[in-house]
Amino acid sequence: MVETNAGAFLLPGPVNMHPRVLQAMSAPAMNHRGPEFKEILSEIHGLTQYLFGTRGPVAVLSGSGTAGLEAAVSGLLRKQDRVLNLVNGKFSERFHELCQVFTTPTALSFEWGTAVDSGKVAAALDSGDFHAVTLCWNETSTGLTNPIAEIAKVVKDHDAFLIVDGITAVGGLENRMEAWGIDALVTGSQKCLAAPPGLSAVALSKAAYESLHADTSFYTNLKAHADALAKQDTPFTPAVPLFLAFREALRMLKEEGLDNRIARTRRLAEAARAGFDALDLRLFPDRRFASNTVTAVRYPTGLDDAAFRKELREKRGTVVAGGQGPLKGHIFRIGHMGICSFEDLEAGFQAFETTLARMGHITVR
Ligand SMILES: Cc1ncc(COP(=O)(O)O)c(C=O)c1O
Repeated sequence: MVETNAGAFLLPGPVNMHPRVLQAMSAPAMNHRGPEFKEILSEIHGLTQYLFGTRGPVAVLSGSGTAGLEAAVSGLLRKQDRVLNLVNGKFSERFHELCQVFTTPTALSFEWGTAVDSGKVAAALDSGDFHAVTLCWNETSTGLTNPIAEIAKVVKDHDAFLIVDGITAVGGLENRMEAWGIDALVTGSQKCLAAPPGLSAVALSKAAYESLHADTSFYTNLKAHADALAKQDTPFTPAVPLFLAFREALRMLKEEGLDNRIARTRRLAEAARAGFDALDLRLFPDRRFASNTVTAVRYPTGLDDAAFRKELREKRGTVVAGGQGPLKGHIFRIGHMGICSFEDLEAGFQAFETTLARMGHITVR
């Protein structure tokens, strides 16, 4: 879809943006309290509900995905509330750190690259009085999608709030937030939507909306943001150019159709997995839970991460992400969400094959 001069830009976010989205960002100054911007907010409100598959309250905040997570946690919970954090990667670990600031959390940890086990979640919830559970639906750090439907069922059976980081899931993976019983679902603009980084969006269940308080937040007061958007307004000065680009990216999603986007993302993931198999590179996560938006691959023994990514970047014009935390140097990751196309993937795989061969790491069968 996107013209790349050479190679491919395959970060797991921020991702490539369509020229329409880039153009939308360069509009002249606009009165953010005027009728023109109200119309834009009205369209964004409806399109954000479409994105989340809900008719319930939604909020769009100026601030990256983490701002949305902070708004959800600080708006729904208080310091004395016990929260169970499901941790199996870098971003779920950070979600736990966030909860340490605002709540009284306990981490239930799983080996990175393995999925959250809903049986263990049930046992943990049986043994303590937890007000809420946090889940990172798609662990971008390990390229793994957690089995959200079964985890949500366990959480609902225990009558706790379910707060979900859907930052690399919403708009790329099948989402049934209302049927599953997710209370707060957060996404970021720079991932499956292919908008610029800098905005977060949050969708809320009715029960969650009714429990919102403003005791522990000010700028990220989620009720203020949700109520304002419903009235075509924002509590503070919004990042106007980002809102314009976000609207254009949402329009493009609607034109493609959410289900079509999700199906296309799955086909790209299948192609990426098949491509890495053909190159004899092993997936990092448990294959049964491999993500459709991000693929994480182990380096073959002896292949240096920095040298590989430098060669890709400088000689092949191709950008991929390395590993994070303990996975640094051991894996690399590519994103295939948003407007990523088969052409982008093909360019990426040409670069991988050439670079692996030049560095002496193509296995001859
Ligand atoms: C799953 C997940 N959670 C949280 C974040 C942090 O989002 P942001 O950097 O937009 O604040 C990311 C970013 O990559 C992510 O992939």
